[in-house]
Amino acid sequence: MRSIDPINFDLLVGRRLWRSMSSTGMWVEKYRPTKLSEIVNQTEIIGSLEALIAHPADMPHLLFSGSAGVGKTTAAMCISKQILGENAKDYTLELNASDERGIGMVREKVKKFSRFAGMSDAPFKLIILDEADEMTNDAQTALRRIIEDTAQYCRFILIANNISKIIEPIQSRCAAFKFTSIPEEDVISRLGEISKKEKIKSDKKGLKAVYEYSEGDLRHAINLLQATASIGDITEEHVKSSAGLTKTSDVDGVLAMALAGKIIEAREKMIELIKVYGMSESDFLKYLNAAVFKSKHERLSEILEFIAKYDYRILVGANPEIQLSALLAELGNVEK
Ligand SMILES: Nc1ncnc2c1ncn2[C@@H]1O[C@H](COP(=O)(O)OP(=O)(O)OP(=O)(O)O)[C@@H](O)[C@H]1O
Ligand SMILES: [Mg+2]
Repeated sequence: MRSIDPINFDLLVGRRLWRSMSSTGMWVEKYRPTKLSEIVNQTEIIGSLEALIAHPADMPHLLFSGSAGVGKTTAAMCISKQILGENAKDYTLELNASDERGIGMVREKVKKFSRFAGMSDAPFKLIILDEADEMTNDAQTALRRIIEDTAQYCRFILIANNISKIIEPIQSRCAAFKFTSIPEEDVISRLGEISKKEKIKSDKKGLKAVYEYSEGDLRHAINLLQATASIGDITEEHVKSSAGLTKTSDVDGVLAMALAGKIIEAREKMIELIKVYGMSESDFLKYLNAAVFKSKHERLSEILEFIAKYDYRILVGANPEIQLSALLAELGNVEK
């Protein structure tokens, strides 16, 4: 996993997409809000954050949680810009907690970064720590010390998908905000605004279809809008074809190959879907699960158990490529 050094507003790309697209020309970046007031939905949270940043010196550490693509990183970046102004770049450090170098790396970077204290032009330095829920409990305990040791000069914004994985002593030191997925009308109106600015034609059914694929993940919705626009107008039909119906049917193909014992071919296709088409490992498993149901295989329950087992292993941090390959190999034995 990459780590981002001092924050670079232009290059920050959603982590689930960085492997499949470059940031240049991406609408998610072009239309990323730069002020809290521009953030869609999350009204209560934005109200509270606006109140907090009105008195920056009193701002507590913050903990943002919630699902993907709903504005957590965006809100953190807006706070940085709004409080630190032109010093934002120099006084903000963005770190990815799940970086393989772990808590030692976090400690080193925070230490270096917090060293030059006594700034007269900013109330504090800001440290944005993304994927904090990927840290082990021990690492989080170490992080708690780091937060305490630097509290005089630094504020932390911790970002997590799953707040229940954050240890209690950290939770209790932060003001916590739970971001929710974006409702249909807000996704559609945002997509409408972007379509207008990009001068692309869209119809209601097309935008609704984008929403349905995105499940309230605005990043996903905007990416799908952009992908569809490269085919033509935003109609239901175009959305469906760019949403990768072909890709889900490719997963059906992977299942068929694996069950037929063609493990190498199945693995190659799986890797292509993930590396080239940017399908996430969890989506791959979701589609595979759906494909198994559709297949009405006589050993359905056994196959579903396999998928669940590997889903769990990946969730707790095992290497996805190795796990998915092992899953395919296991499927290859089912019909033997
Ligand atoms: N509430 C929102 N208002 C406006 N744009 C949003 C909102 N949420 C997401 N977006 C769009 O999606 C992109 C990604 O959002 P962001 O990086 O804030 O997601 P996130 O919640 O941090 O997701 P993740 O958990 O995957 O890191 C933004 O650049 C922006 O274009
Ligand atoms: Mg984020």
